[in-house]
Amino acid sequence: MNRRDAITAVGAVALGGAQQAFAQQPIIVKFSHVVTNDTPKGKGALKFKELAEKYTGGKVKVEVYPNSTLYKDKEELDALNSGSVQMLAPSTAKFRPIGVAEFEALDLPYIFANDAEYEKVATGPIGTSLLKKLETKGIAGLAYWDNGFHMVSANKPLLMPADFQGLKIRISGSKVADLYFRAMGALPQIMAFSEVYQALQTGVVDGCENTPSNYYTQKFYEVQKHITVSSHAHLQYALIANAKFWNGLPGPIRVQMDKAVKEATDYSNSIARQENADALAKIKEAGKSTLHTLTPAQVTAWKTAFKPVYKDAENRVGKQIVDQLLGAAGIKV
Ligand code: LMR
Repeated sequence: MNRRDAITAVGAVALGGAQQAFAQQPIIVKFSHVVTNDTPKGKGALKFKELAEKYTGGKVKVEVYPNSTLYKDKEELDALNSGSVQMLAPSTAKFRPIGVAEFEALDLPYIFANDAEYEKVATGPIGTSLLKKLETKGIAGLAYWDNGFHMVSANKPLLMPADFQGLKIRISGSKVADLYFRAMGALPQIMAFSEVYQALQTGVVDGCENTPSNYYTQKFYEVQKHITVSSHAHLQYALIANAKFWNGLPGPIRVQMDKAVKEATDYSNSIARQENADALAKIKEAGKSTLHTLTPAQVTAWKTAFKPVYKDAENRVGKQIVDQLLGAAGIKV
């Protein structure tokens, strides 16, 4: 054996040892998100951990980091790209920074008449094609997790479009949400989810939108005197993984992980509606905030104010996806 062969042989032994050690170590999956454990997404992440660890016989260990303990909104996707975390479930309103703005079409106002209509789009060709767009960004789009319809709040009742005039409203990042709040005369401001409570408390912003489970678990209802159960837009998440990591999982483990994804997705989606209904009941019971429902005439006024949003959204997210969604919703502009 010459010197070069000897070095190669030593290297091979070292590599073999490393592979063996790797085989005995569990594969760690860091799963970061920004909501509490006690929400549809939080519970879905814990269910995924339970199932992934069970189905792989402990070969995979999932570490869930809830409530922005590891990363805030914008940092999450960077962390996924760099491999600091392996899985996330960000709101589809947060993908513009990595160049997949089309997701924001799902934020178009009144685009889903009810839960079933949302589900049809998410699980149908539109939802599937949006997830596929992530592939070119090194991200595996695994599933959609539901969190129901948005409410909107301030320290005054928000019943007619004019009530929004001049209010600073926190949004999570979507240019479509930016458009529909501007259509009402409000001043939307992007802010990380973990900063919203304090911003509402100190008056940095006047109001926000979110689902009942997020209002309840982040205590927004403590610092907003009036909440309108408006269902003007929908909140959904894309469950995603670092593609290099996900596609590099050993075959048999990947099969079990896909199974865990499917079952955790079904679980999270099956509880979302009830979790939000329960959260709304608790907000009401707490009595710190007055809940409002819109009359049919008020809904009509909101829809009229939102009319220009669909056309304007074409420039922000693309005409094709807007047309597809309007077609699915039967909305004519
Ligand atoms: C928000 O920032 O309002 C939401 O995306 C939070 C979440 O993940 O539900």
